[in-house]
Amino acid sequence: MSIDSMKFRQVLGHFPTGVTVVTATNADGTPVGFTIGSFTSVSLDPPLVGFLPMVDSDRWAAINAAGSFCVNILGTHQADLCWRFAKSSIEAPFEGVAWEPSPITGSPVLDRAIAWIDCSIEQVIEAGDHHFVLGRVLEMEHVDPEAEANPLLFFRGQLGDFRKHG
Ligand SMILES: Cc1cc2nc3c(=O)[nH]c(=O)nc-3n(C[C@H](O)[C@H](O)[C@H](O)COP(=O)(O)O)c2cc1C
Repeated sequence: MSIDSMKFRQVLGHFPTGVTVVTATNADGTPVGFTIGSFTSVSLDPPLVGFLPMVDSDRWAAINAAGSFCVNILGTHQADLCWRFAKSSIEAPFEGVAWEPSPITGSPVLDRAIAWIDCSIEQVIEAGDHHFVLGRVLEMEHVDPEAEANPLLFFRGQLGDFRKHG
């Protein structure tokens, strides 16, 4: 049975995700990064996380070449970064964005991200038109638990925020 691609996107768009910017550093020291919603926790022992980039993504090619990456989990105050890092037409998405190198891999940690996870690439698995990238967690941090931190969420093609129920 063939699945219509529009229907596929629409149905899967009903599964809400968080929004991250996955970053790395090119060999010439310049930063690279893109918006990724397919980020997931994978394993505690060993500590592994994963995400799924398109096989033909230039930015994924650059991150793969770097051999390491940092996952920046965005808060609602960073909605502009979600679109900025999703458009390949924006050639210098880091322009005007404050960041500092992560402690182990030197990948960009974006200012005011609500959490970040510094990783080395453990394995890249073929998964149709995407790769499933497994990262080994080397270092990680989150904002102060007392601080207000509202995660940016993506649902049916739109951004929103978290509301507590129950
Ligand atoms: C909320 C959101 C989530 C996204 N998640 C993914 C993802 O999980 N995998 C992916 O390949 N692209 C994802 N994208 C699209 C990429 O950010 C976009 O295609 C990429 O930055 C283009 O880079 P390129 O120039 O290397 O093709 C997402 C975009 C948005 C707005």
